[in-house]
Amino acid sequence: MNARPLEARTPPPTSVEDARFAHESEEEFARILDFYGVRWQYEPRTFPLQYADDGRIVEAFSPDFYLPDLDLYIELTTLKQGLVTDKHRKLRRLQELYPGVHVKLLYKRDYLSLLTKYGIGGFGEGDGADVREILHSASEIERRVNDLGAQLTRDYAGRAPLFVGVLKGVTCFMADLMRHTSLPISIDFMTISSYEGDRSGAVRIVQDLAEDIHGRDVLLVEDIVDTGMTLATLLTMLRAREPATLAVCALLDKRVRRLVDVPLGYVGFEIPDEFVVGYGLDYRQRFRNLPFIATLAPEALQKK
Ligand code: IMP
Repeated sequence: MNARPLEARTPPPTSVEDARFAHESEEEFARILDFYGVRWQYEPRTFPLQYADDGRIVEAFSPDFYLPDLDLYIELTTLKQGLVTDKHRKLRRLQELYPGVHVKLLYKRDYLSLLTKYGIGGFGEGDGADVREILHSASEIERRVNDLGAQLTRDYAGRAPLFVGVLKGVTCFMADLMRHTSLPISIDFMTISSYEGDRSGAVRIVQDLAEDIHGRDVLLVEDIVDTGMTLATLLTMLRAREPATLAVCALLDKRVRRLVDVPLGYVGFEIPDEFVVGYGLDYRQRFRNLPFIATLAPEALQKK
């Protein structure tokens, strides 16, 4: 008899809210996958392992998770050795009957090594405890920045734009965006006073551009637009230098907080009204090296 997997009768759950997990560890694992932006399906398929003479299925195996982007099934193991041995036997049988199917038996200690692929990299000692929720994973950011670069490549075709970054939050975004843009671009940076370090209440240029922008196609690259006040001031300053064109590319748009209307030509993600860190963005100079964009736990925001 030709062995073939059986599809679940209803579409498999793909979110913690929809799934009815058999074990707590499965829910924990699903949450970790969500945390790092890895798509999953819970028990989508059953693999018959043994048939009776009349064709009835007498033994079957339903791996806990399927990760479509990796084309990989994951079976979590408990610590009970007896069950692990039985699972090993079933897995061997499954591999014999379905040689093209990839299944990994995952012990708890394996979780991290699998997830390292998904950008756990810059997670410094102690920083993990301060992160509340990941809004955009490293792979999601990469995809979006790739799209933005492609769009800029089309929109600025035949021109040599100058990308102007406002330090320091824009560093990661600028580095990735320019590598995804196939144009003869130039880059320059400026530093302005922020309201954290400067109580005079006005945006000042702390370090100006090295390039003359007169007659150039300028793209102002920003990490995040919140009230819009910083950007509005910057645009006024730059416009006075008479560039040929002036547009804005912002990675994050906290639109609900907008006080001043600013034209955003390109936006990576619109985010809710929450303080975010990572991928260049800081809270008191910390968390810039997190590879994802996350909100902070309230306790972290109160720390001096
Ligand atoms: P705006 O002038 O209110 O639009 O503020 C823009 C600047 O505030 C950004 O360039 C950031 O430096 C900072 N900022 C605003 N919101 C956040 C945040 O959620 N995380 C980190 N920095 C932020």
